[in-house]
Formats: sequence, structure tokens, C-alpha cells
Amino acid sequence: MQLENKVALITGARRGIGRAIALKYAQNGADCVLIARSAPEELADEIRAFGRRALALAVDVADADAVETAVKNAVKEFGKIDILVNNAGINDDGLLIRMKLEQWQRVLNVNLSGAFYATKAVARPMLKAEGGRIINISSVIGQMGNAGQANYAASKAGLLGFTKSIAKELGSRGITVNAIAPGFISTDMTAELSDEAKTALLGQIPLGKLGEADDVAHLALFLASEGARYITGQTFNVDGGLVMD
Ligand code: NAI
Repeated sequence: MQLENKVALITGARRGIGRAIALKYAQNGADCVLIARSAPEELADEIRAFGRRALALAVDVADADAVETAVKNAVKEFGKIDILVNNAGINDDGLLIRMKLEQWQRVLNVNLSGAFYATKAVARPMLKAEGGRIINISSVIGQMGNAGQANYAASKAGLLGFTKSIAKELGSRGITVNAIAPGFISTDMTAELSDEAKTALLGQIPLGKLGEADDVAHLALFLASEGARYITGQTFNVDGGLVMD
């Protein structure tokens, strides 16, 4: 029970990596605020079945006012937020020449601005509490780049700079900020990959397979736990060895 009496807010919690993190946190004692475009009520019920409290909210993270209201409601309900996981993310791929302005803006608004809105909203209660954990879900694509994903790569690289800056701003108040860069994880997001693309990809992954959402959740649990109290401003890859420094 590494997160006993903690309250965690997870964005994009309805499925995939966000859902795995929420379940891992709840199994380890955390109460959970679950945000997604449509309220993740079924997940909230699963979490209540573990004896934890859960609040499911329908919020578009690209809507700054909606995010602020959601955080206020969460604090009203649970009294505090100890852990924020900025996980909500989308892709809308296309080569630069064909990429529409809306395609660029929507991906940046959800993946990068969404994290800014949520972080800004939780920073106040965390500063008051003199402690907190912020975990940003980036991507190996933000480190490597990828043809056809300029918008997604820019948003995920942006999250890494955001992570380091906020870690420097909030460190003196006991708040740690770290990023996770997953590689290719089996979720709805990667289900669209063609068999050819998957085979080519597997050839580049030393561990020779896609990851599971739970592989990311294990690290997210550690970063939220007491054992990670002296770690901030870092990026950790969960990618089967795809990216090595
Ligand atoms: P997914 O598509 O399975 O789930 C995304 C979740 O985000 C859903 O619950 C959806 O409702 C929510 N969401 C999307 N737009 C939202 C918005 N505007 N407001 C609120 N919630 C929103 O995706 P997956 O694979 O679980 O990805 C989660 C995160 O991990 C994303 O940030 C993604 O970029 C990142 N990631 C995923 C990788 C993968 O291989 N699956 C690899 C690297 C990073």
C-alpha cells in the first residue's frame, strides 16, 4: 500500500495507459479522480470495489476553464490532490506538407496545453500542502521524432521541457515533476498500426515486443511513491530498449 491516504488525479483515464495507472494507484491505496472526454464511470466503480473513493469527470483537457473547475470540484470532494498524472493524449498524423492547421493545433492543445492547464490548477493546492507529485506522459516520439508526426512529436518534446522547468520552479516546495516516455505500448492508440509497421518496429526494439499499459503503470507507481522523493526533472523510458542515450 504505497499510496495509502493519497489522492491522485489522472487525465485520459478511461482506457489504455491512464486506466492502468489509475487501477495501480487504487490497488496501492490511492483515491482517484478520473478525467476523460466521457466520464469513466465503469472504472470508478472498479476502483470503489477496492474500497477506494473515486470521482469520474467528463472534461476536455484542452478546455482550460473546464480543467480548473474539475480540479476545484476534486479538491472540494477529497480535500487535496497529492498526485497528478498528465496522461490524456491524442495523435492526428500527417506529413507536414498536408498537415492542416487544425490538426497541428488540436494535438498541441490536448497533449501540451492540457498538461499546462492541469498542472497550473493542481499547483495551488500542492503548494499549500508543501508537497506533491506530477508525472507527465511524454513519448519516445518526442525524443526521436517520426515522419508524419510533427505535431505529436512537438507536443511530447514540449512536455519534456515543461517537466524540467516546473521541476525547477516547484522543487523547493517539495513537489517533484518527472516524465515517462513510453515506447510502443499495446493500446487503442497503437492498434491502428499496420502489420508491416509493427514488424518493422519490433526489429528496432531490443526486447522484441510491444509493451503493456501495466509496464508504464509500474513506473508511474514508483514515481508517485515515497521511494522516489529525491527524483525530479527526469525522463524515464519504458520502451523495451528502443531509445538508449
Ligand atoms: P488511448 O487512446 O488508449 O487513451 C487516451 C485516453 O485519453 C482516453 O481515455 C481518452 O478519453 C483520453 N483523452 C483523449 N483526448 C482527451 C481530451 N481532450 N480530454 C480528456 N481526455 C482525453 O491512448 P494510450 O495509448 O493509453 O495513451 C495514453 C498516453 O500515453 C497518451 O498521452 C499517449 O500519447 C501516450 N503514449 C502512448 C504510447 C502507446 O504506444 N500507446 C506510446 C507513447 C506515449
